[in-house]
Amino acid sequence: MNYADYFAQSLNAIKAENRYRIFRPLDRDARFPETSCAGKEIISWCGVDYLGLTQNPEIKQAMSASIQRYGTGAGGTRNIGGTHFKHVELEARLAELHQQEAALLFTSGYVANQTTLSTLGKILPDLVYVSDAENHMSIIEGIRESHAKRIIFEHNHVQDLEKKLASFPLNQPKIIVFETVYSMSGDFAPIAEIVSLAKKYNALTYADEVHALGVYGPQGGGLIEALGLSSQVDIVQGTLGKGFGLLGGYITASAAIVDSIRLMGNGFIFTVSLPPHICASGLFVLDYLKTHTEMQRYLAELVCYLKSGLKKAGLPMTDSSSQIIPILIGDALRCQAITERLFSEHHIYVQAVNYPTVRKGQERLRISPTALHTFKQADQLLDALTTVFCQEAVKPCV
Ligand SMILES: Cc1ncc(COP(=O)(O)O)c(C=O)c1O
Repeated sequence: MNYADYFAQSLNAIKAENRYRIFRPLDRDARFPETSCAGKEIISWCGVDYLGLTQNPEIKQAMSASIQRYGTGAGGTRNIGGTHFKHVELEARLAELHQQEAALLFTSGYVANQTTLSTLGKILPDLVYVSDAENHMSIIEGIRESHAKRIIFEHNHVQDLEKKLASFPLNQPKIIVFETVYSMSGDFAPIAEIVSLAKKYNALTYADEVHALGVYGPQGGGLIEALGLSSQVDIVQGTLGKGFGLLGGYITASAAIVDSIRLMGNGFIFTVSLPPHICASGLFVLDYLKTHTEMQRYLAELVCYLKSGLKKAGLPMTDSSSQIIPILIGDALRCQAITERLFSEHHIYVQAVNYPTVRKGQERLRISPTALHTFKQADQLLDALTTVFCQEAVKPCV
């Protein structure tokens, strides 16, 4: 085989489908959402730092102090020298946050999903995963790797979910897997209905809360906390890397489920554990969120303002329930052209989202305001989008 030719062909195929990705290196620092990129001053409107905590001076200071005290890394896997008392403390706090018996930390939210779902499928005999059609790749990969049976229900479609659940015997193990806030559509899941179907059909529930953490719930514990359903969901998966502004992932569940994953989850066992300073900062963030609920309120007001501005401008915004605001373009090249114009002519950075992150034909801009964006910046974004959409003739403009 000519390896060089093979890789060149593979890249050319991706380019031919207009889905070759170019990353923009940002000089992201304390000025966020103002930042610079390729020597240009820009405002960034994409990312997942929903509360702007990556740049929070108090959290940065707490993290610096933790690094001085505990060092830069964990120095081992959890089993061999790498369990720090800060891991144990943070796990206890996360379990408490989600009103579960126990928690387990992973190096990312992706690894948390992939490891937990692949391992559960190996533990429970004849398991069927009943999974929402819009679930994230980490969920899809985890389920695939489990070799368990997988049934997809239509996105957020409770009747379809019930139909799928009813097609299996009551005593066959089933896990309903869903996101509470969907990453690319911004939809909320019908959590109460899912929980009640799980009870009716003797299924477990697995909820990915990564896009809700920090943003919803009196303690930033997510949408399940906000809805008062914490004791109703069996396994809650989360990340420290989005609303919490750090890095790392976790699950919370009954002590027996968490213990099983701890003992059998390869993505937990065979890797160096999270640095203790991340865990110490996680504890600091959890305390900080309890006393700074004004960030959630501000973000909600800004999101509302932007959505109504987009609606008034007649832009093809989909009806998202959350802080994630998708603008559907439906074509990779056009999506790219719009982001290029926003960047070069308006100094605004909104990344085009293409396949495989979304299905082909579902290409979009995914605008994610943060608690650090101002209303003035929101006005600039609305003006820029209106101008560019008229120029690119995506949809008749008002
Ligand atoms: C729904 C969902 N789950 C899990 C993950 C992975 O989380 P992390 O970024 O912490 O690996 C993502 C990442 O974007 C996500 O969107």
